[in-house]
Amino acid sequence: MARSRITGIAFHVPPRVVTNHDLERMMDTSDAWIVERTGIRERHFVEGDVGSSELGIEAARKALADAGRAPADVDFVIFATSTPDFQIPGNGVLVQKTLGLGNAGALDVRNACSGFLYSLSVADAFVRVGRYRCVLVIGAEVQSTGIQLTTGGRDMAVLFGDGAGAAVVEPCEEGRGILSWALHADGRFARDLWCEAPSSRVPGRVTHEMLDSGRQLPSMNGRQVFKHATTRFPEVIHEVLRDAGHALDDVKLIVPHQANQRIGDAVAQRLGVAPEKVFQNIQRYGNTTAASIPIALTEARDAGLFQDGDLIVLAAFGAGFAWAGCALRW
Ligand code: COA
Repeated sequence: MARSRITGIAFHVPPRVVTNHDLERMMDTSDAWIVERTGIRERHFVEGDVGSSELGIEAARKALADAGRAPADVDFVIFATSTPDFQIPGNGVLVQKTLGLGNAGALDVRNACSGFLYSLSVADAFVRVGRYRCVLVIGAEVQSTGIQLTTGGRDMAVLFGDGAGAAVVEPCEEGRGILSWALHADGRFARDLWCEAPSSRVPGRVTHEMLDSGRQLPSMNGRQVFKHATTRFPEVIHEVLRDAGHALDDVKLIVPHQANQRIGDAVAQRLGVAPEKVFQNIQRYGNTTAASIPIALTEARDAGLFQDGDLIVLAAFGAGFAWAGCALRW
């Protein structure tokens, strides 16, 4: 069976930069608290009515150019987002229309922080069975419109940012490309990182009482997330390396979902690898959920941190809880 590889990757963030000092003026928080607990110094927020599809489309355009492909080459779109423009339909069709992808199929994946890796695994499977030859995988989020920029919402507000990343996945020769992936979930923790409304359990989908208490906005149990993330990241990294027949020493770079710098540092420590082997750019983007891995992978590639033929491991953990890993030879 043929392998698939990422032939193009790119990202796009909205121009507005919001620093920790900007947040200090909106809520009772401090740059020192945010940097110490999360590593984040600034993030990007959209302005006006820009939705996650628009950010994703910009990233997709750049990824196609990076791959040397035109929209006409794309035969399937997978859009990972927890913050779609609409409840129905998904963002994938908005990409399909705007980029003019003929009648290419479009799938939305709602696995939040692990959404990009879940999507990449689907693209890999489609390409490997020979069903599609050029799959566009997008991770994009607008989190800023779902956070309360007040002291009451500060635990979430300081963590998240807006952005998009995209990858083009195509067949490749033996000896490179995606070697293994693993997908996991544990729904016992569904309510530890969630957004309850609008809900099909509620007549009318949302009530005034729900809106007044902010149940249409995401919320989390930060400590529970932290505890599970620091266990699941190393676990899934070992798993995909084992499945690919490799050891940690063979790995050039680990690119994790950017949840929190302290989580990234803890992962390096638990794996027993040098901190610089775990790429982190959360300092400048915050947690961009499904977008964080393609943004980080693009920046790491552009910084020359890996070359053709290097072994890379991607890993993600988030809402669900759901987590995933992927080992690939660039
Ligand atoms: N600024 C200042 N103080 C804040 C604050 C903020 N933005 N957010 C919370 N605090 C306060 C709390 O109210 C609390 O005050 P108290 O002791 O007077 O009650 C204190 O800081 C400690 O809060 P706590 O929630 O216990 O802090 P923590 O050490 O657990 O750190 C997180 C909070 C969110 C940074 C941390 O739990 C975390 O990183 N979790 C993982 C989150 C994550 O990655 N989510 C996305 C997953 S994909």
